[in-house]
Amino acid sequence: MLVTGKELVGKAEKGNYAVGAFNAVNMESAQSIFAAAEEERAPFILQITATTLKYTNPKELVALVKALIERASVPVALHLDHGRDYATVLKFLRFGFTSVMIDGSLQTDGKTARTYEENVEITRKATEAAHLLGVTVEGEIGRLGQIGVDITEEDAALTLPEEAEKFVKDTGVDLVAVGIGTHHGLFKGKPIIRHDRVKEIAERIKMPLVMHGGTGVADEDVQKAISLGIRKVNIDTEIRVAFIETMKKEIKKMDDAHRQADASEGIRKYDIRKILGPCREAAKEAIAAKMKLFGSSGKA
Ligand code: 13P
Repeated sequence: MLVTGKELVGKAEKGNYAVGAFNAVNMESAQSIFAAAEEERAPFILQITATTLKYTNPKELVALVKALIERASVPVALHLDHGRDYATVLKFLRFGFTSVMIDGSLQTDGKTARTYEENVEITRKATEAAHLLGVTVEGEIGRLGQIGVDITEEDAALTLPEEAEKFVKDTGVDLVAVGIGTHHGLFKGKPIIRHDRVKEIAERIKMPLVMHGGTGVADEDVQKAISLGIRKVNIDTEIRVAFIETMKKEIKKMDDAHRQADASEGIRKYDIRKILGPCREAAKEAIAAKMKLFGSSGKA
């Protein structure tokens, strides 16, 4: 059941939970997300980045994901994660995605900040195109200024509520990714989530908010943020960690078996499935735990 992102977060808004958005990069990671959702009876968002479609032939990965969607018995939205330019958004619209993110907060290098005006210009243009096709749009508004000049370190990357309000009016987006203290990837120590900021933004703009960088955020912080208005939580690194840590263990097991085989003049077995099967299972467990945490389990 392929639906739009807006439909999923709209239901989450009414039910006061969040929809998990999980990144897929290959067959096994995509399968682990679908398997977790079926097990949990959880609606979910399957997201793919533009760089992933550079790693593989876009047609192949999209065809695989569409085959999984056809078989799914829970609602799913197919989402572009961090589209940084108009052409990328158009490409994904053509692939039949039902939700796209236009991240106008940074330039295409993914590092240099765009000005507010530049962000609005690119986001509005992408939103107009996506809306013509009935596709949901997520924009991003952060506070990426020069530390020490106009903002403090503590305030860096945090979304300003008044700016978020203006951004929504200026662009027409359906969802907003906000800077509330999270970061992409794993860091030493726990991120400090600015719940006051989530509350302020949610009260002002009355629109589903998105938490990026969901990995490593304490469970209680995630739940508190959801209670204040976060309706989509992005998880990528946590899936990779479950997958790769399991891969390391399975490769070590295979190495040990090979040493034994060498010692007894037995056969060295090289079975890719013996490595990737357990990785897929571990990723599924990690994803299912997040669905429970977000309150989306049982909502399909
Ligand atoms: P993590 O890698 O920290 O889970 O963040 C994922 C994300 O926000 C993708 O947009």
